[in-house]
Amino acid sequence: MDRWEFDQRCRHSSLASLPRSKGRPVNTRELYQFRRDTVAEAAIRAVWDANSAAWDASIQDEGDDFRRHRTDDAFIRMIGPVEGMRVLDIGCGNGYFARRMARLGADVDAVDLSPKMVRLARTRKDSGNRRVKYRVASATDLKVFADGIFDVAVSNFVLMSIADAPTALREAHRVLRSHGSLAIALTHPVFVHPSARKPYVSDSPRLEEAFGALASIYRDRGVAQIDTWPGFEPTPHFHRTLSDYWELFRSAGFVVDHFEEPGLALEPAQQSGQVAIGAHLQACLYLLRKTA
Ligand SMILES: C[S@@+](CC[C@H](N)C(=O)[O-])C[C@H]1O[C@@H](n2cnc3c(N)ncnc32)[C@H](O)[C@@H]1O
Repeated sequence: MDRWEFDQRCRHSSLASLPRSKGRPVNTRELYQFRRDTVAEAAIRAVWDANSAAWDASIQDEGDDFRRHRTDDAFIRMIGPVEGMRVLDIGCGNGYFARRMARLGADVDAVDLSPKMVRLARTRKDSGNRRVKYRVASATDLKVFADGIFDVAVSNFVLMSIADAPTALREAHRVLRSHGSLAIALTHPVFVHPSARKPYVSDSPRLEEAFGALASIYRDRGVAQIDTWPGFEPTPHFHRTLSDYWELFRSAGFVVDHFEEPGLALEPAQQSGQVAIGAHLQACLYLLRKTA
């Protein structure tokens, strides 16, 4: 099957039938009205608390299709060996990635803003030879950790949920040792915009046309709710462009060592029979280095 045919199958098997949030028709005007510069952290915590059980059910022990087929292997390759290292997972969700780091020999601390998410992470089995320590903490306030104690920090699809990204990045910088690294996975802002509903409602059979709608809003910063995840409460998503991220990283004292836009691991994705989200979502991965 070539790429075109694969795209078609994905589209017809999944996207066309993707249920919209609670069956409500998407009201684009409402979404634009919701858009504003920020959302209080307490509100973001409440949303992730409300979504914790659904999130845990979709991620399970090994990550969802998107993570397993598109991003995890590339992310782990990019991070490099972690054996014997002290690793911090910022925004750990149900902790599947923290536990994977532990299985690779790291000593892992894992934090999440949502107490319910941390509770679920603790109930998942630790099959690593090292235990992961879970805590409720915000990326913007890591004062439970002293300066310079981690070799590596990871943040797997979290920064788009954080209003105060400059503080979060400064905190990650503070807790890293000199020349320590921060690995960040993001939904790719060129393809994923919280106000874009076109990819899910467009009649175009061509992904390029459906996603083309994003070009006109790519530079519209701010926050809106992602409300296309079936079974989830609408989730605030802060849109920043690639150059915004570049500037955020630089201002916090990082240099970018590596940038990657991982492709789909096509065969395993086809075999899994649930290729839709892995095929359509796009991600980008950054490896940042603390300069001093
Ligand atoms: C999309 S989920 C990703 C979870 C996990 N990293 C994964 O890949 O499965 C985003 C997570 O970030 C957490 N989060 C949001 N804002 C946060 C903050 N300020 N500090 C720490 N965690 C936060 C949410 O509670 C949620 O668990």
